Amino acid sequence: MGSSSGHSNTPQGLEKPVTLRTIRRMVESGDPFAALTCYDATSARWFQQAGVPVLLVGDTAAEMILGLPGTIHAPLDFMLTITAAVRRGAPNCLLMGDMPFLSYQVDEAEAIRNAGRFMVEGQADCVKLEVDGTFSGLVSQMNRAGIPVIAHIGSRPQQVKHDGGYRSFGRTAAEASRLIEDARRLEEAGATMLLIEAVPSEVTQAIVDCTSIPVIGCGAGTACHGQVVVTQDLMGLTPWQPAFASPLVDMGAEFVALGQKWIDRVKTGNLGEHPYKMAPGETLGDPGEVARRAPQQSH
Ligand code: KIV
Repeated sequence: MGSSSGHSNTPQGLEKPVTLRTIRRMVESGDPFAALTCYDATSARWFQQAGVPVLLVGDTAAEMILGLPGTIHAPLDFMLTITAAVRRGAPNCLLMGDMPFLSYQVDEAEAIRNAGRFMVEGQADCVKLEVDGTFSGLVSQMNRAGIPVIAHIGSRPQQVKHDGGYRSFGRTAAEASRLIEDARRLEEAGATMLLIEAVPSEVTQAIVDCTSIPVIGCGAGTACHGQVVVTQDLMGLTPWQPAFASPLVDMGAEFVALGQKWIDRVKTGNLGEHPYKMAPGETLGDPGEVARRAPQQSH
C-alpha cells in the first residue's frame, strides 16, 4: 500500500500489488478495506491512484454499462474483456472477476474452465460466485484447482426470477440460520472470502463470528471486514441508491454541465488553438483550382 503504515488509502495510490494475504493482514489488524465495482481501465487507473485496494468487475456491468434489464444478461465474453481492461488500468488492485449467470451453475468442469478464463484471460486474482451451501462441492473443486473463490451469499441477484424480485435475506430466524449454515459450509469447502448482500446486521455479525475468512458486505452492516458498493451509486448516476451507498459526488449534474458546455463550445466555435498546420513551405494555392484538381468521388 502507499503509506508507511502499510494499510491506509493514500493519494500516492497502491505502490505494491494487493494480494489476498494483504487483505487477510488488514482483517487481522482490524483495518476495514474498501472495494468498489469497476468496469473499465480508465476508472480502474484512478481508483488505484486513490488507493482503493479491491476492485470488483461485477455482473452489474450488464446494467451499468450495457443498459440491460438485470445482471443475468451479462455475457461471459464481455465480462472477461472488461475484467482484463480493469486489470490493465489497475495492475496493483486485488481484482475480483464476477462469474455471470450460467457460467458456473451448469456443470463443474465448465465452471472450472470458465473460472480459469477469468484468472488467465482476465488476470483476475479471484472469482466471485453467487452460491449457497449446495455449491460447496464446486467451491472445493475450484479451491483444488487453485482458483480463489469469493462466495456471494444472502441476496443473490442472479436468482431474481426464482425469487420473484430483489429482496433482502435472513430476516426470519429460519432464513438466518440457513445463511449461517451456508457460510460455514462454504468456508469449510475452501472459500477464500464471503460476500454478504442485503442481510440484517445481527445476522452478518453471527456469520463473522462463526467463520474465520474475510467478509465483505454490500448492505450487510458494519460487522463486515470490507465494504463494496456499485460505483455508479456513489457517483450519483443511478436513478436511486440504497441508503448504504448514498452518492458521494453528483456526477449526473457534472455530466449534464459538461454536455451543455460542449454544445456551447461547438456552437460558438470556441475550440482552442487548432493544433494541425500544413507542413512548412506547403500552401493550398487557389482554393477554386484545388477543388477542380481534387479526384471525383464515384458513387
Ligand atoms: O455485481 C455486482 O456489482 C455485485 C455487487 C453489488 C456486490 O455483486
